[in-house]
Amino acid sequence: MQKRAIPYKRVLFICTHKRENEPACANVERGENSGLLLAEELKNELKARGLNGKLRVVKSGCLDFCSAGPALMVADNAGDYTLCAGLEKNKLPEIIEEYLQV
Ligand code: FES
Repeated sequence: MQKRAIPYKRVLFICTHKRENEPACANVERGENSGLLLAEELKNELKARGLNGKLRVVKSGCLDFCSAGPALMVADNAGDYTLCAGLEKNKLPEIIEEYLQV
């Protein structure tokens, strides 16, 4: 096994988990607020800002915030973690302003 330092200042994990007949962040009924679509939008924003390699957006499995999702967990290279629920498309500018900066 090889180990190396994480090269990113911050990693944003967005739940893209789906389930049938139970709440989940990327279920179809979430519409434009699906974790999957929000993750893609944030990834596109990273590319547009030229921040690939400095920050990372990762599609994750369940973060245990299913009913209140989509869930976002932010980990930074100082070892701090923040877990947010209720991510919505209209909150992306706020997320971008807070977390997609280096
Ligand atoms: S399905 Fe997203 S937090 Fe559980």
